[in-house]
Amino acid sequence: MTQFKRTLVTTALPYANGPVHIGHLAGVYIPADIYVRYLRLKKKDVLLIGGSDEHGVPITLKARDEGVTPGDIVDKYHNLIKESFEEFGISFDIYSRTTTETHHKTASDFFKKLYYKGEFIEKETEQYYDEKSDQFLADRYITGTCPHCNSENAYGDQCESCGTSLNATDLIDPKSAISGNIPIMKKTKHWYLPLDKHEPFLKQWILKDHKEWKSNVYGQCKSWLDLGLQPRAVSRDLNWGVPVPLKDGEGKVLYVWFDAPIGYISATKELTPDWEKYWKDKETRLLHFIGKDNIVFHCIVFPSMLKAEGSFNLPDNVPANEFLNLEGNKISTSKNWAVWLHEYLREFEGMQDVLRYVLTANAPETKDNDFTWKDFQAHNNNELVAIYGNFVNRSVVLTHKYYKGEVPKAGELKDFDRETLTKMKELTQKTETALDNFRFREAVREAINLARLGNKYLADTEPWKLIKTDKERVATIMNVSLQITANLTIITEPFMPFTADRLRKMLNIPSADWSECGNPELLKPGHIIGKAAFLFRKIEDDEIQKQYDKLIASEKANKIANADVKPSKDNISFEEFTKMDIRTGTILEAEKVPKTKKLLKIKVDTGIDERTVVSGIAQFFEPQEIKGRQVAIMVNLATRKIKGIESQGMILMAEDADGKLVFVSPLNNVKNGSEIK
Ligand code: MF3
Ligand code: ZN
Repeated sequence: MTQFKRTLVTTALPYANGPVHIGHLAGVYIPADIYVRYLRLKKKDVLLIGGSDEHGVPITLKARDEGVTPGDIVDKYHNLIKESFEEFGISFDIYSRTTTETHHKTASDFFKKLYYKGEFIEKETEQYYDEKSDQFLADRYITGTCPHCNSENAYGDQCESCGTSLNATDLIDPKSAISGNIPIMKKTKHWYLPLDKHEPFLKQWILKDHKEWKSNVYGQCKSWLDLGLQPRAVSRDLNWGVPVPLKDGEGKVLYVWFDAPIGYISATKELTPDWEKYWKDKETRLLHFIGKDNIVFHCIVFPSMLKAEGSFNLPDNVPANEFLNLEGNKISTSKNWAVWLHEYLREFEGMQDVLRYVLTANAPETKDNDFTWKDFQAHNNNELVAIYGNFVNRSVVLTHKYYKGEVPKAGELKDFDRETLTKMKELTQKTETALDNFRFREAVREAINLARLGNKYLADTEPWKLIKTDKERVATIMNVSLQITANLTIITEPFMPFTADRLRKMLNIPSADWSECGNPELLKPGHIIGKAAFLFRKIEDDEIQKQYDKLIASEKANKIANADVKPSKDNISFEEFTKMDIRTGTILEAEKVPKTKKLLKIKVDTGIDERTVVSGIAQFFEPQEIKGRQVAIMVNLATRKIKGIESQGMILMAEDADGKLVFVSPLNNVKNGSEIK
């Protein structure tokens, strides 16, 4: 491996349109933080860069929904996200945002540089334009009927009913989500990054020169490259973002995926005047920590941008993770199926390390993984409490009991002591190798194995039995135990920094240094340690049940809140209401209207007369089953011809959000012809 002088670590910039949840933490921020803390312990020159991604269409949509400005939305969530990261000890050197002046200038200049170098192609295309609100419509801003499932509320980029991804031009009866107007097609100019031109380079650089990348990352890149790359638009018709810095760029902004990764550069600039050293010096290594949905942008698009610019380093590695699921289902912000970080801390106060630990032990490193509350409890109770906490507690408590808190001098070591100390060294080396290779699950397992080793050592040597008979042996045992305990303050620091800090205070040692890892004489005889305190607490079944119930309840509440209930129509007068003549009637006969799917021809006794009504309910009712049913029928509706049949009135139905129909009938049978009012 090449020796690097310094490392620049970036973490995907989360969209500032919602809080962060355990999936974010597990996929990106915890692994990045572990890695950076590890390098810092090794006294390496390293920066951890982060920030909020504050542009893009979803943010403008959310603002519209809530009746506020996009600026209000990003302010709110940027602060919330930043706080969550701080609370969980994600040790950013800077956590910035993409609405800063520095970022706008940096992104704008970057675009200009590529533009004047001739690195873009210009294309005119036709796009939907809303004349009423005087703007081009992003795909998300267009709704219409899905060509696949006929759902009427499909978006221009996707139908949420059947899940098909769409182009806005696929929609039947497209409408502007802004004005309700029917949009027109209008010409618009955009700038494209010709990824196809960079393809030969990318193939060499990734497929040949970076075979060491994680297989999930390498595999995704390979399938993109095998398919062949297309030019990608780097501008949009939108008024929220970094303005396109060209004369004919008016009303256009840089595409959010163009400006966001440049945010890494802007943030570094904001952090240090030395920023170029971190981005351009060949002895700096660049690492992007991201989730799998960001792979193409960080391995193909952004490197092409950097390459085209010419003066920047390309990433050395992109250790992307897969997804974390929650209790068997995909984490979803919109469905409220998530564990939110700010909420976790309200209920498990001071227990950020427990979540950090569980999310690392169970990280979706090579495949999607599932977080369950039961598993969370098991990791805490069986590993953190029963192994790590228990071992530390015993060694500290016994030291106070036997030596008033003074580290005893070891006597002659027995084979078993030596073996234990050798194993300690091996474990620290295994942890190190795993960390060097971004295998954090394995790394944390080896780190906990050190506590396990200590626990077993005490259980096997049983100093509490020897204390009456063999004081010298006990001194050795306690010395060895304390050395293991002290080593734990170093080796666990990247994973559980809050706990390592408390343990250092307990042991009265000032700071940790990775080069001391495995040292069997970390604590000198005579050193006075502090009082024992519990590092972890047991988590009870009812706490876990409560979390699970809460998850289910909040998902349900969300479903109800988001149900597709149409808003009420404009008010009408009482007179207008009384114009409608609705009566009870009984269905006498019903039959399918030939060559239609939806229509039934129904004969109704209205009490006034017998008449025929054509009704679009055939998908929900068999003609036979509705015979004899009492219904509500509007009798003074102007007659209409439907499929050649004269329909005299309308049977009232209730329609739910999914389009399912049920009859509106009196609860008890009443005389046909009774007025409904
Ligand atoms: N906001 C994007 C997401 O959440 C990630 C942006 S990463 C960056 O998927 F590189 F663009 F900053
Ligand atoms: Zn559909």
